[in-house]
Amino acid sequence: MEIEIGSGKGTFLVQQAPLRPQVNYLGIERSLAYYRYAANRMRRRRLSNVMILRADAAQFIRFWCADDVASVIHLYFSDPWPKKRHHKRRLIQDSSLRELHRVLQSRGELRLVTDHEELWRWYEGHAQRHAQWFDRRPFERPESAGAGEIVGTNFERKYRREARPFYAMTLQKK
Ligand SMILES: C[S@@+](CC[C@H](N)C(=O)[O-])C[C@H]1O[C@@H](n2cnc3c(N)ncnc32)[C@H](O)[C@@H]1O
Repeated sequence: MEIEIGSGKGTFLVQQAPLRPQVNYLGIERSLAYYRYAANRMRRRRLSNVMILRADAAQFIRFWCADDVASVIHLYFSDPWPKKRHHKRRLIQDSSLRELHRVLQSRGELRLVTDHEELWRWYEGHAQRHAQWFDRRPFERPESAGAGEIVGTNFERKYRREARPFYAMTLQKK
């Protein structure tokens, strides 16, 4: 199973799932409007290896996910919460990294992409602090990414039109 946190309109999942029928994909999306939009796309395309769940991903992973269940966890263009007093709302925290590590299988991967430089430094700081849990690896584009794209999510396409820079890393569970 692969999990996408904050799947938005579900673009990554609807592009990637048909190319990897042997993998089960689970999207977790908190917004009701985005969840409904993505669920409808999946239903119309009759995708049988992808499900979407409306939940707070941090809570779902912490309280509902068993150990060693995911081979990959995708987190693309997560909300950056730029104000310092809101940093505690960011999905990557010391505590959530511990949970993501627990849920990943051995050698499983946490794949992170952002356009936000300060959030990127936050990710780098967390990766360094938890180097005992994860090896840092280069990010490999999924098969479903279009020409010149990193992943090909809605936010990536929007930000690409604005010529924003992108940052990407893979953290592999030791
Ligand atoms: C900036 S959007 C990016 C959407 C998509 N990944 C993309 O690249 O187009 C962030 C998404 O994460 C969702 N989100 C934020 N916090 C979440 C949480 N705790 N659990 C689940 N989804 C969350 C938001 O509702 C939103 O759809």
